[in-house]
Amino acid sequence: MTSDADLLSFATQLAREAGELARARRVVGVSLAATKSTLADIVTEADREVEALIRSRIATERPDDGFLGEETGAEGGTTGLTWIVDPIDGTVNYAYGIPAYAISIAVVEGDANSNEWMPRVGVVSNPASGELFHASVGAGAFLGEQQLFVNQEIGDAGSLIATGFGYAAERRAEQFEVLQRVLPLARDIRRIGAASLDLASVAAGRVDAYYERGIWPWDYAAGSLLVTEAGGLVGGLGGLPASGELLIAAAPTLYAKLERALAGDTTP
Ligand code: IPD
Ligand code: CA
Repeated sequence: MTSDADLLSFATQLAREAGELARARRVVGVSLAATKSTLADIVTEADREVEALIRSRIATERPDDGFLGEETGAEGGTTGLTWIVDPIDGTVNYAYGIPAYAISIAVVEGDANSNEWMPRVGVVSNPASGELFHASVGAGAFLGEQQLFVNQEIGDAGSLIATGFGYAAERRAEQFEVLQRVLPLARDIRRIGAASLDLASVAAGRVDAYYERGIWPWDYAAGSLLVTEAGGLVGGLGGLPASGELLIAAAPTLYAKLERALAGDTTP
């Protein structure tokens, strides 16, 4: 059986190599490869090239593991381990040159297409800032060498809450309604533009909470482990696990309040 330390070391190496490639391509200039669900939902040549690099390195080093990537989809394995990869999370930031995009790599046990996997390790790296966040189950979350902890105390001014918006107009209209219920809890809102960095920010105490509807396993598999290993909770509504339907990440003290607002309960 492969140790978490070995998986983390390989995942970290992959995130560094992928980050170098993404950064180098960004310097040369970004070219749009296609649009996906809507015109606003873009994929660049770099997204595809970075995923191809990560996928081929995994196929060579760990040919029996499964794989699930945003750009190339899923392939089963025989070891029970699956690599869940977003080659560039925050593609719109990447395309505009905003230095908030990330390579997100998780290794999980179980079915990566369900929400019932058990995370083993997660790495989120922001090549533009040089920051690399990592966690392995039961061993804490770190930014480089520094251990991370979610914010437990929320001051009277309220919480700093990150969220994101989908690419489709109808989804955005719903998200606007929900935001109006969340705003009374918030000292302010952040829309960073990369779900994995939102989750890393919760883990690092740079925001107090994050929620979003409509994200995918590659957006949150690695970042969710960062949050839980930093002492936070990650889930959906009413005890459900986090899923594309809804993901909430916050310190235990704030989670229930945020969950109530998201569920539509407006009593104080
Ligand atoms: C997107 C980002 C964004 C979130 C979207 C995701 P992508 O991922 O994480 O912050 O709001 O829901 O799809 O498309 O840049 O990989
Ligand atoms: Ca992506």
